[in-house]
Amino acid sequence: MSEHCLNDPGLNDDVVLACRDLVKSYEEGPEKLVVLNGVNVEIRKGERVAIVGSSGSGKTTLLNMLAGLDTVSSGVVSICGTDMATLSDSQRGDLRNQSLGFVYQFHHLLPEFTALENAAMPLLLRKSCSVSEARKKAEEILVLVGLEHRLSHKPGELSGGERQRVAIARALVAQPSLVLMDEPTGNLDNHTAERIHQLMLDLAEKVDTAFVVVTHDPELARRMNRVLHLTEGQLVEE
Ligand SMILES: Nc1ncnc2c1ncn2[C@@H]1O[C@H](COP(=O)(O)OP(=O)(O)OP(=O)(O)O)[C@@H](O)[C@H]1O
Ligand SMILES: [Mg+2]
Repeated sequence: MSEHCLNDPGLNDDVVLACRDLVKSYEEGPEKLVVLNGVNVEIRKGERVAIVGSSGSGKTTLLNMLAGLDTVSSGVVSICGTDMATLSDSQRGDLRNQSLGFVYQFHHLLPEFTALENAAMPLLLRKSCSVSEARKKAEEILVLVGLEHRLSHKPGELSGGERQRVAIARALVAQPSLVLMDEPTGNLDNHTAERIHQLMLDLAEKVDTAFVVVTHDPELARRMNRVLHLTEGQLVEE
């Protein structure tokens, strides 16, 4: 991976996410568990990157660091040129809302809101459009993931795969610079997974959304620009 780009303002414009020498360890009593041990990566506008690695290798931990959802032990993570560590909690939250979409390994929908409201949430948080516009965009994207008949269902009234699709719709609705996904289509049938992969590819092309996707699905990995392997706490290009 190109080491020089972080300090090169000419090239920086295109980098939506960069992390350098990222280390994450957990203290387990007297023991220290080092999960990430010097991860370096740069993701550019519209780039599609798969992260693969065995269970417990630290993929979810890495995505949480990249999203600024957890603190790093050492190293730097910057989003669209801004070092996350220099921001207050509320500034970090704002940057996340403006620039990132996130699909968790286990969906995190708001239980008291409908599918439509959950999918519209990033637009409502950004206050970048009216409520009716947000609902319209959320509906459009829910149609694309095949949920036009479930708009007013709450998460508890949806199947696991349907919930996952609402989470995917929510991550994509505001067309962020970067979407981080943790096993997004692992428990969906082939046909639905294929539709969602296509949607991701279209967005990457149309609005230059970059994708970092943790996946065990070789079909999905094949459709990304790069495949990075997380092993022994480091990312290695395949
Ligand atoms: N809060 C925590 N405290 C202590 N150890 C943790 C914590 N979170 C994760 N770990 C450990 O860190 C390692 C990496 O976990 P992580 O969830 O990142 O793996 P993963 O690659 O996403 O695995 P999977 O493919 O099963 O989802 C695991 O050994 C896990 O036990
Ligand atoms: Mg995981």
